[in-house]
Formats: sequence, C-alpha cells, structure tokens
Amino acid sequence: MSDIFEGNRAAWNQALKYHQMARGQHLSTGFENPHFTTFNRDYDHVLLEKLNQLDLNGKTIAQIPCNNGRELLSLMRYGAKEAIGFDISDAAIQQARQLAQIAKLNATFTQANALEIPTEYNSRFDFIFISQGSLQWFPCLDEYFGVISRLLNDAGQILIFEIHPFAYFFDNVTSYFAKGPYNYPKGLDYFGNIEYDSSECFWFMHKMSDIINALRRSSIEIMEFDEYNIDMDGNLDTDLKDKFPLSYIIVGKKNSWLAMPTN
Ligand SMILES: C[S@@+](CC[C@H](N)C(=O)[O-])C[C@H]1O[C@@H](n2cnc3c(N)ncnc32)[C@H](O)[C@@H]1O
Repeated sequence: MSDIFEGNRAAWNQALKYHQMARGQHLSTGFENPHFTTFNRDYDHVLLEKLNQLDLNGKTIAQIPCNNGRELLSLMRYGAKEAIGFDISDAAIQQARQLAQIAKLNATFTQANALEIPTEYNSRFDFIFISQGSLQWFPCLDEYFGVISRLLNDAGQILIFEIHPFAYFFDNVTSYFAKGPYNYPKGLDYFGNIEYDSSECFWFMHKMSDIINALRRSSIEIMEFDEYNIDMDGNLDTDLKDKFPLSYIIVGKKNSWLAMPTN
C-alpha cells in the first residue's frame, strides 16, 4: 500500500512544476489582492450558492487534499478564523505556504498522507472542503471518509464539489464499474496541458454508490446531493455531454448517532 502513496506523492511533486509554470504567477499576483478568489470559473455559481447557505464565520476549516492551497485560501474569504490544508505533495505544500504568506491569511499547510493525519487533529474542524479530483487518489473510501469524520467535530460539516464518476467514462479512462488502479503516463498537467513522462501514479474509480455508502458508513449524513451537467475539466468532447451528470455537490454533516447499533 505504501508504494501507491509514495508513487502518488512523487507524481504530484513532479506535476506541480508544470502547474506552477501555467498558473504560478497568476496566483501569487492574485493573492496580493484581498478580494482575490479562484472560485471565479463559469460554473462556480453552483458552489457559491451552497457556500452562501453555510455559515463559515469564525469557523475552523480544512481542505483534504488541498494541493497548492488556492481553494482553501479562497474559502477563507467566507469569514473562517483558521484554515489548515493537508496534502501528500511536498511541492504543493511549499507553494501553498508561499501563497498563504502573500495572502496574509491565517492558513497553515501540512504535508501528510490524508489517511495518516495525526490524531492531534481529531474533532478539530467545523468544516472540511473536498473538491475536484480528490477522491480518486484513495483506494478505499471507507478509510478516507473515516479520517474526514474523525477530524470533524460533532455536527461538523463537509462540502464535496467533485467530478461525477460518469464523467470519467467519457474521458475514456475506464468502465464505470472497474476500480483500477489506473495510471496517467502522460502526466497530470491539467492547467498547461503539457504532456510529459509521469512517474507511475495510482488512480481509482469509485461509483456514485461507493461514495454515498462510504459517507454513510463514516457517520456522515448527506444533507444535500445535487448533480450537474458541468464539465469541470472542460475537455470532454462529446455531444452526449448534456445528457449525463458530470459533476456533483454533496453537503454532509457528521452525525455520530449513525454509528450507533440499531438493536
Ligand atoms: C486534483 S488535486 C485535487 C485538489 C484540488 N481540488 C485541486 O484541484 O488542486 C489532487 C491532490 O490530491 C493530492 N493527494 C493524492 N493522494 C493523496 C493522499 N494520499 N493524501 C493527501 N493528498 C493526496 C495530490 O497531491 C493533489 O494535490
């Protein structure tokens, strides 16, 4: 198992160099402006609608995984008092720390395999954000959401804004039902679209039912579940696009009662 995570760590460290070339300057200049946000893509209105319904004022928030922190720093604009981002990539965490310094926000970043986040963070968070391209790096969602649940305080909330498993079917990555692992031999530069020889990484397909069942087993109650025909990566080339869900939002709340035996 450690080979999977060490492989993914190396592949993401490698990818960050390309992301930095494509977007680094834009982000470091952007975060000098206190009103800057990366939630300004055409489709972000669905996310902003949900965020506006949540009260993040004075809250302690996290993003797992957080990549270079740009989304977590953007979330801080909703009034959170403290943010902590976790990611396995050393290069991503290094960039995140630089951006936090530029933005002058109370956000810290920790390099860690999400599945091994230390117990000192248990029950620490009011809100955890999980976004685009996160879940598929974890072979077992019960383990991943088990950690998310452990880190949430009682009644802590999550928001998942993710690529729908159906979208990967159009991406020609896999069958909807075949878990993998899969590799990205041409790299992970979804910003600059530069192809390079990627070190081997391990990506896993999870069906929508896998995601929902893993949340339920982790004592996270689904409060809202919405599906959209939004192509988050913007590179699906099919006229079937409008006929299938391509992304989704789940808002959930920790409910420790769900873990109680029923008899
Ligand atoms: C596609 S990004 C998703 C994060 C964010 N939505 C973004 O777009 O930047 C995937 C991130 O997952 C991280 N990652 C992969 N496996 C991980 C693990 N086991 N623990 C923590 N982070 C992990 C990678 O380093 C990468 O930053």
